[in-house]
Amino acid sequence: MKILGVSGSLRAASFNTALLRAAQECAPDGVTIEIFGLHDLPLFNQDVEDQGDPVPVKAWKDAVRSADALLLACPEYNGGITGVLKNAIDWASRGSPSALQGKTACIVGASPGVTGTVRAQDALRQSLRKVSAEYWPLSEMLVGQAHTKIEGGVLTDEKTLAYLGRHLAAFVEHMRG
Ligand SMILES: Cc1cc2nc3c(=O)[nH]c(=O)nc-3n(C[C@H](O)[C@H](O)[C@H](O)COP(=O)(O)O)c2cc1C
Repeated sequence: MKILGVSGSLRAASFNTALLRAAQECAPDGVTIEIFGLHDLPLFNQDVEDQGDPVPVKAWKDAVRSADALLLACPEYNGGITGVLKNAIDWASRGSPSALQGKTACIVGASPGVTGTVRAQDALRQSLRKVSAEYWPLSEMLVGQAHTKIEGGVLTDEKTLAYLGRHLAAFVEHMRG
């Protein structure tokens, strides 16, 4: 199973990207997680789209299409998802069928606050519903007080690592039916 890991943060020491790196280490057997960086995606502009998708947009849509499932690491900005992640969803939602059609997403998120991106994850689910992607509904993974668990972009907290491992294993079991 090939899972595409996507972080809604461009920050080098991002807590959310750190969750994806940790997920690569604790992925269940037979599962690979490839991380796709959103740094090169331009802001969505329908005039640009009308001229044909720019190369980074093509690469993003191809990566989504060729993945069996998505692992979305969702930071929270002002109670919602980051512009970076929403922009990526907006690009991928275009076309018929869109790259997101029928894709299932596992959602994780980390923030220094105690609520650990719960509001952003709800907002992300709303966007995914709207673009015909699905989310794995059984569980959400919220990592609060992330600054005490992730150091220099590395998830060091053993309990959170174990939590992530269980979350991924349950998702993969769900995907395998
Ligand atoms: C513009 C902005 C708004 C933010 N709003 C929230 C928020 O609503 N809730 C929250 O828990 N953290 C909020 N934060 C703090 C982020 O959770 C924190 O910067 C976190 O490190 C971002 O994720 P990252 O580490 O993956 O880059 C905000 C940060 C920024 C820059």
